Amino acid sequence: MSLIPNLTDKANVLVCGASRGIGLALCGAMLARDDVSRIWAVSRNATHSDGLAELSNQHSERVVLIDCDARDEGALAALAAQVAQGCDHLHLVISTLGILHQDGATAEKSLAQLDLAGLQASFATNAFAPILLLKHLLALLRKQPATFAVLSARVGSIGDNRLGGWYSYRASKAALNQLLHTASIELKRLNPAATVLALHPGTTDTELSRPFQGGVPVGKLFEPAFAAQCLIELVGQLGPSDSGGFWAWDGRAIEW
Ligand SMILES: NC(=O)c1ccc[n+]([C@@H]2O[C@H](COP(=O)([O-])OP(=O)(O)OC[C@H]3O[C@@H](n4cnc5c(N)ncnc54)[C@H](OP(=O)(O)O)[C@@H]3O)[C@@H](O)[C@H]2O)c1
Repeated sequence: MSLIPNLTDKANVLVCGASRGIGLALCGAMLARDDVSRIWAVSRNATHSDGLAELSNQHSERVVLIDCDARDEGALAALAAQVAQGCDHLHLVISTLGILHQDGATAEKSLAQLDLAGLQASFATNAFAPILLLKHLLALLRKQPATFAVLSARVGSIGDNRLGGWYSYRASKAALNQLLHTASIELKRLNPAATVLALHPGTTDTELSRPFQGGVPVGKLFEPAFAAQCLIELVGQLGPSDSGGFWAWDGRAIEW
C-alpha cells in the first residue's frame, strides 16, 4: 500500500512532535519504507532526542532534525521557510503535538482543579499549534496528493464522553477537531486532492499516558511501534473523500 492514496513519487514527510512517543515511532517506521524520500523531524528538542539521533545515524541523508516550539508562530513561519528550501511539496504532514499533564496542563478530575493557565496551556499545544502548523505549511501542501494528519484523541469526542474529567484535554481536542474539519473544507477548494484527518492512536505507552495507565485493561495499551503502524495504514487508506473526518487507529469513524 502506498504511504498516502495516489502517491506516485517518493514522499517528503514532516512529523511535528517527533522526539519521542508515537511521533518517534512514526519516523522510524516511515524511514524503513523505500517510498519515503525524506523526513523533517520536528520538536522543541529534536536535536537532543536520543531516538532521533539513532535514526539520523542510520538514515543520515533522509532525516532533517529541526528544533521548533510549535506554540510560537514565528518559529512555525521559520520552520516552513527552512523546509521550503529543501522541497516544494510535502506529501504527508503528521502532527503528534499534544500534552495532557505536561507544560502547565493538568488532567483535571473536577471543576475545582480547573484554572486559566492550564486551559491555555492545553489549548496552545493541542489545538492552536497544529492548526497554525497547517497555516504555515499550506504553500507546501498545494500539490497533489497531500495529507495533513493530526493526532487527536477519542476523549475529544463530545458524543462519546460518558466519564467526564480531563476538562482541558478533552475540550482542546474537541476544538482541534473543529479546526481541522473547517480547514478540510477550505482545502477542498485549494487542492481537491488534499486530505485532512483527525486520528485517534489508541491508548499507547508514552510519557503522555504514563501516569494514567493503571486503569487500562490488559492488552489495550499499545506499544508506540504498533500505534505507528496502525496510523500509517490509516493514512494509506484515507483519501480526499474521507477528508475532514475523525478516525480511530482501527479504521472506525469516531462520532464528534
Ligand atoms: N499516548 C496515548 O495514549 C494517546 C492517546 C490518545 C491520543 N494521543 C495523542 O497522540 C499524540 C502523541 O502523543 P504521545 O503519547 O506520543 O506524546 P509524547 O510521548 O508526550 O510526545 C509528544 C511529542 O510532542 C512534542 N511536543 C510537545 N509540545 C511541543 C511543542 N510546543 N512544540 C514542538 N513539539 C512539541 C514532544 O517533543 P518535545 O518535548 O521535544 O518538544 C514530543 O515529541 C498527542 O497529540 C496525544 O494527545 C496519545
